[in-house]
Amino acid sequence: MPVLSVKIGRMTLKNPVMPASGTFGYGEEYSKLIDLNKLGAIVTKCVRLKPTLGNPPPRLAETPCGLIASVGLQSIGVEAFIKEKMPFLRRFNTRIIANIGGETVEEYVEIAERLNGVKGLDGLEVNVSCPNIKRGGIAFGVDPETVYKVVSQVRKAAKNLTLIVKLTPNVTNIVEIAEACEQAGAEALTLINSPLGMAVDIEKRKPKLSTVLGGLCGPAIKPIGLRCVWQVAQRVRIPIIGVGGIFTATDALEYIIAGATAVQVGTANFVKPRVMLEIIEGIEKYLEEHEINNINKLIGSLQV
Ligand SMILES: Cc1cc2nc3c(=O)[nH]c(=O)nc-3n(C[C@H](O)[C@H](O)[C@H](O)COP(=O)(O)O)c2cc1C
Repeated sequence: MPVLSVKIGRMTLKNPVMPASGTFGYGEEYSKLIDLNKLGAIVTKCVRLKPTLGNPPPRLAETPCGLIASVGLQSIGVEAFIKEKMPFLRRFNTRIIANIGGETVEEYVEIAERLNGVKGLDGLEVNVSCPNIKRGGIAFGVDPETVYKVVSQVRKAAKNLTLIVKLTPNVTNIVEIAEACEQAGAEALTLINSPLGMAVDIEKRKPKLSTVLGGLCGPAIKPIGLRCVWQVAQRVRIPIIGVGGIFTATDALEYIIAGATAVQVGTANFVKPRVMLEIIEGIEKYLEEHEINNINKLIGSLQV
């Protein structure tokens, strides 16, 4: 049997497949449909400092090859996450990663301090696509200096946790943002969050989302995700988690060959709850068929 285990920072994952934040809740509903122990990790819905409702409806719109979402920073808040969700999550033999978001650097730091040392939690995934209210709502992750500030301060606040930063593709040069994260102490990067899109209802002549713009997810964004992973993999030493449009083992393998150490599955979970297990089986089958005894030999093996 080929070795599927990979390392993300200080975490050893039994295999490289995990859900993307916001598409798997806290695992409770999916635990009735699939065995969560089989996943490489579980990434939670965004955790914020206080409970927040997110954006008003409508906040999902279907497009021919994806979904546009503007859920916003909806969260149950960090205290409820620790008390109500962690006791359930820590029962599983997998790594638990909390996706965190904030509107100020201080909010990120407070969440990180509160989560540091929580029993059963292994890592933080810092979502820097959130709007920075002190800078007029521009996302933290579009400016290398701001991203450096958030990441270095979260690093100090959560020394016990593997620190992953999830980047937005809505930038001119994703490589310089990735390098700033690495310099600030990130142990891994997740690429990509959703590119901005919009959809129009021609009868009402209104946008289909209350926020007008939303994040495009699903098959349409795989080429963008692959491009970002490949570009960043050339320039940083820390591992990359690839995400965007992964529906099959072939999609996941494309990301791994382009330079991703692990992958996240988002929208596909809505279509087929078993999809991550099928992807794990498909990766294993590919390795066997190609006589590769360890997945780590495949990572970044793209021949250009
Ligand atoms: C309904 C929904 C909610 C999401 N919520 C979050 C979130 O809370 N934090 C985050 O970092 N990304 C969030 N995302 C983005 C996904 O984690 C992922 O980056 C994106 O959907 C691209 O992957 P996919 O094409 O496999 O869906 C959300 C996506 C969707 C569709």
